[in-house]
Amino acid sequence: MTYTRLHVKLLLRKGKRPQARAFFDAYYMRTIEWDSPSAAVRMIDQRGLPGRFSQVTCFQYHEIITAIQNMTIRGAPAIGVAGAMGIALAAAHHQASTIEELQTVLRKIGEEIAQARPTAVNLRWAVKRIMGVVEQSYPNLPGLREAVISEAQRMADEDVDANRRMAGFGAELLKDGDVIIHHCNTGSLAAVDWGTALGAIRLAHEQGKNLHVLVDETRPRLQGSRLTAWELEQYHIPYEIITDNMAGHFLYTGLANKVMFGADRIAANGDVANKIGTYMLALAANENQKTVLCVAPFSSIDLNTQNGDQIPIEERDPREVLGLSFEGEPVCPADATARNPAFDITPYKLISAIVTDRGVAYPPFENSLSNLSKSL
Ligand code: MRU
Repeated sequence: MTYTRLHVKLLLRKGKRPQARAFFDAYYMRTIEWDSPSAAVRMIDQRGLPGRFSQVTCFQYHEIITAIQNMTIRGAPAIGVAGAMGIALAAAHHQASTIEELQTVLRKIGEEIAQARPTAVNLRWAVKRIMGVVEQSYPNLPGLREAVISEAQRMADEDVDANRRMAGFGAELLKDGDVIIHHCNTGSLAAVDWGTALGAIRLAHEQGKNLHVLVDETRPRLQGSRLTAWELEQYHIPYEIITDNMAGHFLYTGLANKVMFGADRIAANGDVANKIGTYMLALAANENQKTVLCVAPFSSIDLNTQNGDQIPIEERDPREVLGLSFEGEPVCPADATARNPAFDITPYKLISAIVTDRGVAYPPFENSLSNLSKSL
C-alpha cells in the first residue's frame, strides 16, 4: 500500500477537506506494528519520506536487522521496539521442535539484533527485556511463542504511553511565543507514536501555545528537513527549515530562545549521545544563555554507563555525506573522502533539563536521574 502526499493535496485543492482527512486517517498507522493474522511486522519506510509514503513488511528477523541498519526504521525508541519485534518474528516462525531449542535460537538472534546499531541503548534495553520473557519456563512451545509475541506488542503500546507522559512533562516547560530550534527527528517516526521532543512540542501546540519551530535540516541524512518538517505540516505547527550552521545565528540574535532534541543514550552523569550536531547546537545555546531541553524515555538512560566517553559512536558509510547533489551536480570531487560519525556527545553541563516519562531531571543529573530510576 502506498500513497503520496499529492493525493491529500489534490483533495485539499478541490476543497474536499473531510475526504482528505478521511484519506489520511485510513492510511494512518504507527511507525511499527505487529500484524497478528500474518505474524509479520509492518513499518513505515522512512527512507522515501517526505515524497513517498510506503510500508515495508518483515516476516524474518534478519529483515528487521536490515531495516534498522539501512534506516527504513530509525530513532532510538522505534529501533528498540523493532528489535523486540524481530525476536517475536523468530519466535513465531522458527521451526524448533522443543522449548529449549527455540530458547537457544532466540538467545543467538537476540545477540545479533542487539548489535544492529551500537549507539542507541534502547535496542539493547528492548532485547534484554524480551529475553527475560524467553528465559521463563513454559508448558509448551505455543506458550513460549505467544508470550514473546505479546511482550513485543506490550512494549509497543508502552512506548506510546511513555511518549504521551513525556509530552505532558515537556509541554509544561514550553511557553507561548517560544521559538525552538529542533534537531534531527524526534517525532512519531522516531518512536511507535508521538515521539519525544517533538511530542512535547505537538502537545503544547494542541494546548493552544503559540510556538514556532526552526527545523535543523540535520545533515547528512536530513532527518530534520525530510521527517520533522513532514510531521510538523501534519500537526499544523508553524516551522521553517534552517541549515545546521544557521543555528548559532538564530541563538545569538535572540530569534530563537530554546533548543530541543532527543537522545540515543544518556549516561549516569547526564551526558547525552544524540544525532551528530547536537553538541554544536548545545554549545551555541549555552554561549547565548538559552534553554537546552533533552527529551527521552527512561529506556534511553543507561545508568551502567558513567559518562559519555563510554558510549560507542556509530560511524556510517561516507557516501551519506558525499552523495548529495546541488543543481543536479555532485557536491564534491569524485575522489573525495569523508568522515561520518552519526552521533556526538553533549556534556551534561550544557543541558538545562532532561525530560523523561517519569518526570523532569534537573542538574545535578547524577542525583536526579538516579532518583527517577527509583521512582516506578
Ligand atoms: O540515526 P537516527 O535517525 O536513528 O538518529 C535518531 C536520533 O538521533 C534521535 O534524535 C534520537 O533517536 C532521539 S528521538 C526519539
